[in-house]
Amino acid sequence: MRKKIVAGNWKMNTDKLKGSLLTHTVMEETNPGNFEVIFFPPFPFLSDIALISCQKQGFSLGAQNISEFDNGAFTGEVSAEMIASIPCKYVLVGHSERRMYFNENADVLNKKLLKAYQHGLIPLFCCGEPISERENDNYLDFVSIQIKESLFDLTADQLKNTVIAYEPIWAIGTGKTANPSQAQEMHALIRNVLEEKFDQNLVESIPILYGGSVNSSNASELFSQPDVDGGLVGGASLKAEEFIKIIASMETVLRNK
Ligand code: PGA
Repeated sequence: MRKKIVAGNWKMNTDKLKGSLLTHTVMEETNPGNFEVIFFPPFPFLSDIALISCQKQGFSLGAQNISEFDNGAFTGEVSAEMIASIPCKYVLVGHSERRMYFNENADVLNKKLLKAYQHGLIPLFCCGEPISERENDNYLDFVSIQIKESLFDLTADQLKNTVIAYEPIWAIGTGKTANPSQAQEMHALIRNVLEEKFDQNLVESIPILYGGSVNSSNASELFSQPDVDGGLVGGASLKAEEFIKIIASMETVLRNK
């Protein structure tokens, strides 16, 4: 069975104390035996959360970003090597907020992906269409281009060490989730597109998470879809009670499989 994941992307929220408390609470209340829970805190708390998250099986740490450059004179940047040394296991690449607000185009994302693999980090590569593409019925083509331009040049080994998240932009932070069949349609499409280039067994083994207003009421139905292997959760991952319920939804879905 493919790896199942519930990931919390804190974005630019919380502080050191609240972030540590949140992590402790979530870890005390949940037992992800056969799946993985990943915390993506802001850079300044990564080391603190690393010390907490390594204390129980099933919990991992990820960074929200890495530089496209190696170490050197790049004031304010954080390199993949630094992140790997914390240690962090994952890094987000291609989140729509980075694409939109920081002009990260396919060229930049490809450089970041390569830096991640070079330093043994697993990239969680995000893709997803804006509302205009969905309304124009061009959403499948839009996402398949994102997949092709960022993932088709990878080696099979690199793809094997990759997690994908489908996050429709119109669903991020809006409270407007893709319904389970919309999520399933896109996740299956992503797998089909990857199979144009990579071995079917390899593609079958890649986890594809759904992101965009996941909460405790919609998580079970989304996680039950055959090609949805978990969630990348933003807002709801900042509320311990909500995130705990979302993790519990994954436990229930896996128990009933
Ligand atoms: P959201 O964010 O759950 O707040 O919609 C998801 C994300 O951007 O990863």
